[in-house]
Amino acid sequence: MKTKHWIVDNLEHVTKNSPQIVQAAELLKKNELVAFPTETVYGLGANAKSDEAVAKIYSAKGRPSDNPLIIHIAKKEQLTEIVDSYPDWIDPLIDRFWPGPLTLVLPKKEGLSNLATAGLSTVAVRMPDHPAALALIEAANLPIAAPSANLSGKPSPTSAKHVMDDLEGRIPGIVDAGPTGLGVESTVLDCTEDIPVILRPGSVTKQQLEEVIGSVRIDAALLNQEELPKAPGMKYTHYAPDAPLTIVDGSKEFIEQLIQKEKEKEKKVGVLTTEENSRFYSADKIVVCGKRSDLPTVASALYDSLRKFNEEQLDVLFSEAFPAEGVGQAIMNRLLKAASHRIIKER
Ligand code: TXA
Ligand code: MG
Repeated sequence: MKTKHWIVDNLEHVTKNSPQIVQAAELLKKNELVAFPTETVYGLGANAKSDEAVAKIYSAKGRPSDNPLIIHIAKKEQLTEIVDSYPDWIDPLIDRFWPGPLTLVLPKKEGLSNLATAGLSTVAVRMPDHPAALALIEAANLPIAAPSANLSGKPSPTSAKHVMDDLEGRIPGIVDAGPTGLGVESTVLDCTEDIPVILRPGSVTKQQLEEVIGSVRIDAALLNQEELPKAPGMKYTHYAPDAPLTIVDGSKEFIEQLIQKEKEKEKKVGVLTTEENSRFYSADKIVVCGKRSDLPTVASALYDSLRKFNEEQLDVLFSEAFPAEGVGQAIMNRLLKAASHRIIKER
């Protein structure tokens, strides 16, 4: 199929009546897929009430069907369509963080596609903070199921080009509003326990959540590899570049030694580094991923950086490690997955 490409270049003026948005929403209403930007990554949207529509997401992405999707809404009133009654402490979270990169796992109401929720009794829901996404959801007037718009296993897409590289010809349309901002996917918070649990770290941090609702836990599987994660999606390999990646928790001198050892073995080496350190290394491919002194810039550039390693044939990849604080927790979570948890520590 040919993938229709709608460009939205004036985000201040995009509404549910903009012609590109109206056309894209028509596809959603016909149970077809549309990729669209959010403030985190591009999503691959479908009518969340239709099994027929949602099945197309799993097949376009090659996604395992036991991995439920996040349902996207544009107005708080849409929440009552998809979730059952929820505790009072949810409202302050919504008031503080929506629209924004916080996904809430809540008790599910009947009426949604069971495929979208992978048969669970809970549903993950968020309101994205992106004018084109909000306009599209409003125009479709439907809850929209949307995973990241990449082939399953690849890094999530932070530009329309990433989406096209993975899905061109496999989906009928994409709304292109340029690169996304935050880069890592939303924080997923399970609100069905007495003490809410972070199932996936993102740009909304544990500390920010605790300022609003008090104590929050982190899913044991995020801290300990032996535990089975509660968010089904967190158990899959994800984000991995073609060549094997190892994270190095050590000085740049130590990383450079590792690079040189590989080069002596005639290996082609890539390194993921930051503006501060990039001039230091002798690797064949040096990918600069934001500024170490400003971790949100690293989060924003992370997936594009991982994709860059596939532009040429490399044998071994190293990445600097980042402090697992604030958004650093999300960065290290994604990097560890991309590295299949290979990490070398300097002693
Ligand atoms: O930023 C984002 O969240 C992006 C944009 C497009 O909104 N979406 C995204 O979706 O990252 P996806 O499908 O790639 O990741 C959804 C995550 C998975 O880890 C999934 O297992 C988890 O949310 N999830 C969905 N429903 C759940 C539920 N009912 N209980 C627990 N985890 C759930
Ligand atoms: Mg994903």
